[in-house]
Amino acid sequence: MSSTKPIGIFDSGIGGLSVLSHIRECMPAEDLIYVSDTRHLPYGTKSPSHVKKRSLLITEFLIEQGVKSVVVACNTATAASITTLRNQFNIPIIGMEPGVKPGIENSSNGKVAILATDGTLGSLKFQELMQRFSGHTTIVIQPCHGWVELVEEQYSDDSDLDSVIREQLHPLMEQGVDTLVLGCTHYPFLRQHIDRIAGGKAHIIDTGEAVAKQLKRRLAAQDLLNLTPHTGTEQFWSSAPSPTTERIVSRLLDKPCVLNQLPE
Ligand code: DGL
Repeated sequence: MSSTKPIGIFDSGIGGLSVLSHIRECMPAEDLIYVSDTRHLPYGTKSPSHVKKRSLLITEFLIEQGVKSVVVACNTATAASITTLRNQFNIPIIGMEPGVKPGIENSSNGKVAILATDGTLGSLKFQELMQRFSGHTTIVIQPCHGWVELVEEQYSDDSDLDSVIREQLHPLMEQGVDTLVLGCTHYPFLRQHIDRIAGGKAHIIDTGEAVAKQLKRRLAAQDLLNLTPHTGTEQFWSSAPSPTTERIVSRLLDKPCVLNQLPE
């Protein structure tokens, strides 16, 4: 048995495209519907109840489009809403969380930094994750203010971009951190800059690929994979589509993309 229904993916903005790329690579036949909640960006500084409300509305929209599963491609929205979404909707809902465990496993000196939004780092879910895994590792928590905007606005001036990234990274490198966990789906788009500013020496952990594999396992377990000989399509929706975002999305995915207006 298989299912040709699409998979829904959402984020506050275009960060979740870093996850969509892994899903596309892992499951070439699947049709994907991506929602960017640009009008309500950033989620990281909004109240958990606001983020939960947005997550519920977007998931309802995706279910109306006939999706067989939803990927919350956003650490902040997962922290605020995953339990509610799973209680409310009877399809597989896959969330994201900062890779604390792989971060600890990859560190050679036991000094790991978790880079994420205020919303993620301040959540109960993140506290539980830390209690479960931190053990004898020194974990430094680093909210990265301004990084989401760097990705959304695609700064063309690299020196501006570098100075915003350096501000957060330098203190971490001075503390001897050797592993950086990217706990926000926007940050993989800054990976080259992060790597260079960290002197090319830090281990960088991104959980996008692990989430794509987990999605595939969940769909396979419920006979929901698309097994037809078909090349998957992508459809994009945004709560604030603009020619600029359309250009950025097309550039990030390296193909022409059209953004549809998400109904209010
Ligand atoms: N990309 C989102 C995450 O993974 C959040 C970005 C935002 O603050 O809107 O947490």
